[in-house]
Amino acid sequence: KPYIVILAGGIGSRFWPYSRKKRPKQFLDLFGTGRTLLQMTFDRFLGISQADHFFVVANQQHYELVKEQLPEIPESNILTEPLRRNTATSVAYACYRIGVHHPTAKIIVTPSDHLILHQDKFLAKIQLALTASEIDHRLLTVGIRPNRPETGYGYIQYHLEPASKVKKVKTFTEKPNTKLAQTFFESGDFVWNSGIFIWQAKSIIHAFEKYMPDVAEVFEEGKEFYKREEEIAFTKKAYTLVKNISIDHGILEKSDQVYTVLGDFGWSDLGSWMSLYEHHDLDNANNLVEANALLYDTKNSFIKVSPEKLVVVQGLENYLVTESDNVLLICQLDQEKKFREFINDAKNKG
Ligand code: GDD
Ligand code: MG
Repeated sequence: KPYIVILAGGIGSRFWPYSRKKRPKQFLDLFGTGRTLLQMTFDRFLGISQADHFFVVANQQHYELVKEQLPEIPESNILTEPLRRNTATSVAYACYRIGVHHPTAKIIVTPSDHLILHQDKFLAKIQLALTASEIDHRLLTVGIRPNRPETGYGYIQYHLEPASKVKKVKTFTEKPNTKLAQTFFESGDFVWNSGIFIWQAKSIIHAFEKYMPDVAEVFEEGKEFYKREEEIAFTKKAYTLVKNISIDHGILEKSDQVYTVLGDFGWSDLGSWMSLYEHHDLDNANNLVEANALLYDTKNSFIKVSPEKLVVVQGLENYLVTESDNVLLICQLDQEKKFREFINDAKNKG
């Protein structure tokens, strides 16, 4: 059975103030189903793997949260990071750990903050990729047909010949600028990188050796630990030695072993309030209301406020109204680019 590596070290800043440092979005129950995004990710793969094959890579400060939310997985499979060094580092850490015992182990690397609507279709694609990963040192990605020129994703162009369900990737461009994204989108030849990767341990280790030898060298040394303290001491040092770079920039853009399977299973990177809004059922005025609220002349808005308060709203259109702890946020629903600024400025306000 494949190993599942869940990347859970992001900060989810565009879900501020609901997503905070202490509890980023992957640890939140954003759908009110009783399961957090991290738990939903675990549930999604449980059918094709087994609990002791799951690894979660998360920040040190969230160790207890992961343990609490996924009591099923062994504690030693919770890999904690002293610093944020981006996904190439997290992937190396987990894949070297797995690879030391099982070089041919198949690994699925997954983000912890995605929504997948059609589970069966999704798993069928994953199976296809798992089989394809057995050949050479292939690195499999799952491609998604784009519906807008989004600049926040990676774009994959693949060879059309030979016609096969598993396509060899021609180019991989992580987060293109607006103009390039527009060109890619209009050409119709590109798919988005979903951020879900499938490979054998030895294939990704081979890629680290070839494209990120400094990272390979660091993690080569820390493949096996007998005590948690030893492991923490190792990462403390290792994480200061590596650069902050994503797996997309570090390996996928460079490797000639990248392949893709195309997925059509209702995928969304729950990147922002807008994306969450788009995935819920709305009322007649296209409002999403998770609050005890009275709305007047209000449409296309998302109101999420603790039920202890009565919220009265008049005359809003395309607005987000939300609060968490000591922050009340009222802004246009599609202004996700402003969130960094909000967070920075809010810090200075104390
Ligand atoms: N452990 C750990 N450490 N996890 C991290 C870190 C880190 O330093 N940084 C990010 N992550 C986790 C996030 O929590 C998320 O689950 C996943 O890794 C991907 O990181 P994002 O920061 O969300 O990446 P992105 O959305 O900008 O880009 C990636 O995903 C897109 C699709 O959603 C890339 O793979 C793109 O190419 C892709 O299109
Ligand atoms: Mg993301």
